[in-house]
Amino acid sequence: MSQPQFASVASPVLSLGALLREFESRLGAAGIDQPVLEVAWLVEHVLNLSPLMQRVNAERLVTVAEWEQVRTLIARRVTREPLQYLLGTQEFLGRDFYVTPSVLIPRPESALLVEEAGRRCAQTPGATLVDVGTGSGCLAVSLALALPTARVLAIDASADALLVARANMVQHGVGSRISCFHGDLLTAIAQEGVANQMEVIVSNPPYIADDDVATLQPEVRDFEPRLALAGGCDGMEVHRRLLTQAPAYLKPGGALLMEVGLGQAAAVCRQAEEYGQFRTYAVLQDEGGIDRVVCFENKAGS
Ligand SMILES: C[S@@+](CC[C@H](N)C(=O)[O-])C[C@H]1O[C@@H](n2cnc3c(N)ncnc32)[C@H](O)[C@@H]1O
Repeated sequence: MSQPQFASVASPVLSLGALLREFESRLGAAGIDQPVLEVAWLVEHVLNLSPLMQRVNAERLVTVAEWEQVRTLIARRVTREPLQYLLGTQEFLGRDFYVTPSVLIPRPESALLVEEAGRRCAQTPGATLVDVGTGSGCLAVSLALALPTARVLAIDASADALLVARANMVQHGVGSRISCFHGDLLTAIAQEGVANQMEVIVSNPPYIADDDVATLQPEVRDFEPRLALAGGCDGMEVHRRLLTQAPAYLKPGGALLMEVGLGQAAAVCRQAEEYGQFRTYAVLQDEGGIDRVVCFENKAGS
């Protein structure tokens, strides 16, 4: 793509309409599915002008600095970097979460975990819950907001992810109600005196089989953190580890809720039954009809 020649950095030289056309064709040529929409969102991010107002103001001139900012974002998108990382945000359960390449981009189906945990704790004021593998903190924040008297713990093995989670907790006004821990699964809270204290443990663990990561779409494969994706040889390694660790932290009758990948629910339920500590009380389906969240109750005390 030839770049316009600019006389001076401050001078406006190109119309918004021309900029939109140029970058739409660039994204289209790069194989991006919805180039018109994506350019509109990126331009909105830079110019603070809604997609509708961009069309209404197509004759407005853009400055070199504005053009350059949009061009930089478009160049990143051409490499298949997800739009959410470019915009720095993703909506989850009606709230905006700050995201960076250190965290998984929240997916809508993970809301099932929040809804089920909310149901379990609705009648239990002061419940303690833990989110294992918190990433952006979208689950921990949503739980803290849904359950205003609950105490929430959030764990991640990635220190960079925890910085993002912390920012989201503060942004959503629940920073003082969520404690963050850096470490490996529930061992990260082994010294916290919370044995047999948890009403609910939620987790959206990495669940892609290691060898399958290479087959994912480039946005996921090349940009989302591998630690958030790769779940061992069959994708269920973290589920198995959580099944063995969770009973020591759950109250009698407490629940372990885990998101699973396509076709994994039956195997994870079988594993839970084999360990003997849990009763499978539900398998929740996402909007696509896929078994997405497995729900186990701690048998101790039942
Ligand atoms: C699939 S992401 C889920 C992020 C977020 N909870 C969500 O639903 O969007 C999995 C998260 O688990 C973290 N993780 C992976 N292995 C872990 C481990 N052994 N201990 C703690 N966290 C881990 C990753 O860093 C990542 O943030």
